Amino acid sequence: MTVIASLYNHKGGVAKTTTIFNLAAYLAKRKSKKVLLIDCDPQCNCTELFFCSADSYDEPDAQLPGTSIYEALRPRFDGDASRIDAKKVALAESPEYPNLYLLRGDINFSKGACPNFCVNGVSDYI
Ligand SMILES: Nc1ncnc2c1ncn2[C@@H]1O[C@H](COP(=O)(O)OP(=O)(O)OP(=O)(O)O)[C@@H](O)[C@H]1O
Ligand SMILES: [Mg+2]
Repeated sequence: MTVIASLYNHKGGVAKTTTIFNLAAYLAKRKSKKVLLIDCDPQCNCTELFFCSADSYDEPDAQLPGTSIYEALRPRFDGDASRIDAKKVALAESPEYPNLYLLRGDINFSKGACPNFCVNGVSDYI
């Protein structure tokens, strides 16, 4: 069974990102769950936390091409596809936790406007 957890609070700086990242790391490390973090925030704070312990990821855009949320949904933004097949979306693997994956944040995501998009096949992740 796939569980989707999201945190919403209109107020800024109230620990949404901190909480969701620590929940994901806890589930991956302590509970051995396969966890996908999706960073929809153009600030990319969750993405920074994901790589903060990895000196080798100085340039994720260059080192991990195709693993950002903008790149994943780009066929919809460009009007090239009616649906996104989640199985074809590339993910970044955590340098620290074996079961933790990330769809990276991307400043370009704030430029996109894409109503009614549909993502199939997310059921492999909690
Ligand atoms: N329990 C805590 N104790 C002290 N500081 C905390 C705690 N949780 C988070 N912080 C700090 O508070 C700041 C804001 O946290 P965070 O970025 O998680 O908030 P946010 O709600 O995601 O913010 P934004 O609205 O900008 O996305 C960060 O500097 C974070 O390190
Ligand atoms: Mg945040």
